[in-house]
Amino acid sequence: MVGYAFMGAAHSQAWRTVNRVYDLPARARMALICGRDAGKVADAADRLGWDAYTTDWRDLIARDDIDVVDICTPGDSHAEIALAALAAGKHVLCEKPLANTVSEAREMAAAAAVAQAAGVRSMCGFNYRRVPAVTMMRQMVADGRLGVIRHVRATYLQDWIVDPQFPLVWRLQRDKAGSGALGDIGAHIIDLTQFVTGQRISGVSAVTETFVKERPLPSGSSGLAATVDGAGPVDGHGSVDGHGSVDGHGSVDGHRPATGLVTVDDAAVFVARLDGGALATYEASRFATGRKNALRVEINGSLGSVVFDLERLNELEFYDATLPTAEQGFSRILVTEGEHPYMSAWWPPGHIIGYEHSFTHEMRDFIEAVATGADPTPSFADALQVQLVLDAVTRSADLGSSWTDVEPALATVAA
Ligand SMILES: NC(=O)c1ccc[n+]([C@@H]2O[C@H](COP(=O)([O-])OP(=O)(O)OC[C@H]3O[C@@H](n4cnc5c(N)ncnc54)[C@H](O)[C@@H]3O)[C@@H](O)[C@H]2O)c1
Repeated sequence: MVGYAFMGAAHSQAWRTVNRVYDLPARARMALICGRDAGKVADAADRLGWDAYTTDWRDLIARDDIDVVDICTPGDSHAEIALAALAAGKHVLCEKPLANTVSEAREMAAAAAVAQAAGVRSMCGFNYRRVPAVTMMRQMVADGRLGVIRHVRATYLQDWIVDPQFPLVWRLQRDKAGSGALGDIGAHIIDLTQFVTGQRISGVSAVTETFVKERPLPSGSSGLAATVDGAGPVDGHGSVDGHGSVDGHGSVDGHRPATGLVTVDDAAVFVARLDGGALATYEASRFATGRKNALRVEINGSLGSVVFDLERLNELEFYDATLPTAEQGFSRILVTEGEHPYMSAWWPPGHIIGYEHSFTHEMRDFIEAVATGADPTPSFADALQVQLVLDAVTRSADLGSSWTDVEPALATVAA
């Protein structure tokens, strides 16, 4: 694994757990974890359960006894690490968004296709697909329970940078993160809704905004928590790990922090057409005061509607328009039965699961695919398509919201 902070911890928990919950044809051994700071990665290896640590990710690639590389770093290093790992014949799990640019994502998808021919697997970490209620939504759509899909309404809302004094962490820098709320959380609802509906976004009209354009430089930060020099943590998250400070920056005099420009969007809102005929709206924001990690998706079809809310992730709301009129109404399905996706290995019905289980399910499917010689999803090609949607949103916003088609993932070859 490369990276040991937020996703590093979430993935480690899943790697530790997965073989104890699911009966799988292969067993994960947590061999080597990489971070740039020797002391901190040593602590992380001990805390998270890794056999050894290194400060250079190339050590993972060089070791013959390592089969899988799990990339949990910011987007600016995904392509380099993934390309090297695939070239060395390692199966790769890479966090989302796949890359910072379409050209990097194209290169990664092409490399994954070449590696696939040699039996090397790759997958992108859109974990929300593997919340049982979300997987079940997809099954309901595929089974025709919703009829023809007319509307998709997706929001992913956070508020961790409402305070203008929150520092300029890597997520607010285009060269590190690629984009802001759009690629970080917007990418999740793009993938989730395409996964559930089986339809792909074909075109968009978008607005994006950066509400706070300049922020103090951080002295130490992780992805969602940071400190400004001379101050304590500035948000309510608590420090995930206190690692990963923005290299080379610091306070000017220890009192008044230096500032830097925010180079990503704080919020992105867009309407979209899906290729199966549905109309969709998407909203991703880090300025939705009071909303901590509020992911909600509603789908309306000709025969019914279904609603998922991450804050109630064990449930689905379902409206069945085929029932007698007098009996119609939104009903709550508790997605904890053994027959529900992923649930048979957990607890008796009604004994709910949480956020971290989506990662255990991700590792379960990844291990099973690798061990049985199948291709896990979402593939790098699927993740490239999400990247192309992000790109269309950015281009549309830059062009005053003009309608912008999503580029095809595969370049067409002239006859
Ligand atoms: N699936 C999800 O729900 C989800 C949630 C959060 C983040 N993410 C994604 O996970 C990735 C990491 O995000 P995070 O929140 O864990 O960030 P983070 O800041 O908490 O952790 C990043 C880690 O990467 C390390 N790192 C950075 N560059 C490195 C390099 N060149 N070599 C070795 N280590 C390096 C840092 O030291 C740190 O340990 C991003 O792509 C992000 O979009 C996904």
